[in-house]
Amino acid sequence: MDRTAELVARPAERTIAYDPAVRASALHARAARVLEANWTGASTVPSRGLYPHQWSWDSAFIAIGLRHLSPLRAQTELETLLDAQWSDGRIPHIVFNPSVPLDAYFPSPDFWRSSTAGRAAGAPRTVQTSGIVQPPVHALAAWLVHRADPGLSRGRGFLARVYPKLAAWHRYLLHRRDLGGGGLASVVHPWEQGMDNSPCWDAPLARVVPAPARSFRRADLDHGAPEDRPTDLDYGRYVRLATDYRDGGYADGQGSFAVEDPAFNALLIASEHALARIARELGATGTARHARAERLTTALLDRLWDPERGMFLCRDVRGGNLIPERSVSGLVPLLLPTLPREIAETLVRTARGPHFSLGDTTRLLPSYDLLGEAFDPHRYWRGPAWFNTAWLMERGLRTHGERQLADALRQSVLKLADSSGFAEYVDPYTGEACGTADFGWTAALALDLLHDEPAWDTYGVTYGAALSAFGAKEVKGGDRG
Ligand code: SER
Repeated sequence: MDRTAELVARPAERTIAYDPAVRASALHARAARVLEANWTGASTVPSRGLYPHQWSWDSAFIAIGLRHLSPLRAQTELETLLDAQWSDGRIPHIVFNPSVPLDAYFPSPDFWRSSTAGRAAGAPRTVQTSGIVQPPVHALAAWLVHRADPGLSRGRGFLARVYPKLAAWHRYLLHRRDLGGGGLASVVHPWEQGMDNSPCWDAPLARVVPAPARSFRRADLDHGAPEDRPTDLDYGRYVRLATDYRDGGYADGQGSFAVEDPAFNALLIASEHALARIARELGATGTARHARAERLTTALLDRLWDPERGMFLCRDVRGGNLIPERSVSGLVPLLLPTLPREIAETLVRTARGPHFSLGDTTRLLPSYDLLGEAFDPHRYWRGPAWFNTAWLMERGLRTHGERQLADALRQSVLKLADSSGFAEYVDPYTGEACGTADFGWTAALALDLLHDEPAWDTYGVTYGAALSAFGAKEVKGGDRG
């Protein structure tokens, strides 16, 4: 039996006999071991085999867990990533480790050629990176990392150093990436949104002529089961889009793929609120940033809310239409504390309904519509449940006062992280481990939920501050203590 199978075979039930505190401390120790093993000295790899470099949104989620083990390492994780920022403000989705062989991961630095093809866009000279981005979880992570040890953070000038970089990152997204002209940021590649093969991309990707299969060699299949991963046809299209972007000098606005995604933009809004809190900590008012977050929330509602489905959808900017697919991405805006009450209530209803079955027939929230034609419980983002989206939803449920649902989701995350050997993702019905084991953000976010912080201030906004300063509609009272 291989290691993953062995861990999966350990029934979650067996641990129920133990004292919860003992069980929690054993899980804490196992999660800490994963983060220790994936630590490279300056950052954390998502996984030693499948993802052997530093990934942008992985690092942000990892820092959120790492702060409970070592606030210093959590600060370093984010600082290492920010050291690779381009001068146009973009934070690259991968920072390559030069000691890892080129053929260990595809696409490798010789594909992206950041220091030459990215020169005009301001790619760094000393470190090799990809040229695309990932969801902006970073300011939120920086704020949470600061709060874990404010004394250490102030002593090192952590927030003062990261604030201008985070502000430049948001500027890049709000200015260079407003490709739809409605105030939201667009992604120009499925890898940017992070849910690579979500069925939401099927229609916009159908317009992309795939690169020939023989023109590249996938390295992911050396580590992951093919039925858990995107297909060769998907990869052909990913490669074509990335090649065209690179060959255009990573300039924005030309590409055939441009999508406004609800989770990407909700994370940008949550991070804007967090930047406002950081600004306040540094002596400014933060008012303009909170106001911008509120304008973005209005744009999110105007452009992506679908009343009929009771959730947010993706907008295909090139096609000019909403994409009629239900992805967990469309529930993630629940994490926004100033969402109008009726929208938050509708999102919770949709999450509990037949398409996502939260707290009912699934063990963890699926990444895609259980009733959708494209649903596949094992294939990456076409159905499996992921721990980062569960964490975001747990925070959202708690923020909007859904304490019982939040507690149950939190328990599921902890049980499944444990029983799956910190799997990358799991079958939403059975909890069977999929992808790689000992996955960084699974360990980190389980660790974070073990610490059971109240959610009301998690996103850098207190209800009172947000409501009184901006007249946002009243939201249902969350648990504040
Ligand atoms: N998620 C992508 C991969 O599978 C890259 O970001 O490699």
